[in-house]
Amino acid sequence: MSRTIGIGILGLHEGRTLLVALNLPEPPPVGENPAAVPRTRYARAVAGCDLRPEKLAEARRLAPDLFYTTDYAAMLARPDVDVVAIYTPDALHGQHIIQAFEAGKDVICTKPLVNSLEDARRVLEASRRTGRRLMVGQSVRFFEPFIRQRQAFERGEIGAVELVDAHYIHRMDWYYAKSPWAVASTDWIFLGVSHPLDLARWYLGPIAEVHAYGTRSALAARYGVQSFDIYSVNLKAVSGQIGRVLGHYGLHELPSARNAIELMLYGSAGSSLAQYHDMRYLHTAPDGTQIVEDPLYRKRAYYFNNEVHGMHYGEFANYADAFARALLEGTPYSPDLIEGLETVCVMEAARRSASSGGPVAVAPLLAEIGLG
Ligand SMILES: NC(=O)c1ccc[n+]([C@@H]2O[C@H](COP(=O)([O-])OP(=O)(O)OC[C@H]3O[C@@H](n4cnc5c(N)ncnc54)[C@H](O)[C@@H]3O)[C@@H](O)[C@H]2O)c1
Repeated sequence: MSRTIGIGILGLHEGRTLLVALNLPEPPPVGENPAAVPRTRYARAVAGCDLRPEKLAEARRLAPDLFYTTDYAAMLARPDVDVVAIYTPDALHGQHIIQAFEAGKDVICTKPLVNSLEDARRVLEASRRTGRRLMVGQSVRFFEPFIRQRQAFERGEIGAVELVDAHYIHRMDWYYAKSPWAVASTDWIFLGVSHPLDLARWYLGPIAEVHAYGTRSALAARYGVQSFDIYSVNLKAVSGQIGRVLGHYGLHELPSARNAIELMLYGSAGSSLAQYHDMRYLHTAPDGTQIVEDPLYRKRAYYFNNEVHGMHYGEFANYADAFARALLEGTPYSPDLIEGLETVCVMEAARRSASSGGPVAVAPLLAEIGLG
C-alpha cells in the first residue's frame, strides 16, 4: 500500500475499541502461530481526543505513539487526520460531524448518525456545502454472521426477501450508570433500535411507512428515562416488502433463547438468521436442510480480542477499513450519508408513531431535512 487513511478518534470510551483495533495486531487464532496480523490494510489510527484526562491516559497506555488532546479543534487542525471517527454522546454527533466537514475531514460516525431531524438537515447541508463524505459505523453489519448472511443474499441464496424480523434487546442499567446522558438527551429509538432498523432498511430498501408502539420498562422508570425503552415497529417498504423490529432495554436477558441482536430473513428461496453476541449463522440449504455455522472459536480473537462475547474490535476495524479503502479507490460504501439520513427519518417516524399511536409516512420527514 502506498497510502493509508489516517484516522483521528473523537470520544475514547467506545472509540477506544477502534483505537485498539487499528493499533494492536489481532491476537492469533487458537492453536496458530502467534504472528502479528494487522486487522486493517487501509486505515491507521493517528490521533485521539477526549475531554476526560483518564480516557486519554488509558488510550496513551494502549497506543503510545499517537497524538492526544482534549481539544477537538487541535485534532481537526492536523494534516495527518484524513477521517474523524466520532464516538461522543448521541446528541453531540451533529455538531461534531459539521465541525469535521468544515475542517476538510471525512467522517465515520457511530450509530445513531444523529438523533433529531434538525441535526439531520444541518449535516446534509454541511456535506453538500463542503463535499465531504461520511460512513455510518453500523457495527452489526460488519460482524461475521451478518457478513456471511449478506454474501449469501447477494449470491441469490435467499431469493427475494419476503419478511425481515430484527431485534436488539439488552438490559441497560449498566449503561445509565456509565453514561448518564442516555437518560434524557436521546431516545432508545436512536440509541438502541438504530441497530435493527438499519438491518431491516439494508434488506428492505427505502421505507414508506412506519407503525410503532412504545412503552417504558420498570427499569427505565427507576432511572427516570424520558423516552420509551420498549419499542415494537412495523415497516412497509417503498417496494411493498414488510418487516418488523423490536427493541427492549429493561429486560431480564435470556440469551440462549434470544441473542441480543438477531436478523431473520425469510426469502422466496430460503431463510437465514444471523446472531450477536453468539457468532452463529443459521440458514437453509436448497433441499431444506438446516445448516448451522458457528465461527466463534475460529474468529473470537479477531472480533472480541480474545474475550469471548466482549466489545466490537473486529466490526469497527472492518468498517474503518471498508471506508478507508472506498476513499482511496473512489468506490461506493454503505451505509453512506444519504442512507444513514433516510434511516434517521425512519427512526423519527417510529418515535412519532409510538407517541401518536397511528402510522407515520416517511416521505414528509425526508422532505423536511432536504431529501425530498
Ligand atoms: N455498537 C456500536 O456501534 C456502539 C456501541 C456502544 C456505543 N455506541 C455509540 O457510541 C457513542 C458513545 O457511546 P459511549 O458508550 O462511548 O459513551 P460514553 O459516555 O461512555 O463516552 C463518550 C465520551 O465522549 C467524550 N466527549 C464528549 N464530548 C466530547 C468533546 N466535545 N470532545 C472530546 N470528547 C468528548 C466523553 O468525555 C466520553 O469519554 C454513542 O453515540 C453510542 O450510541 C455505539
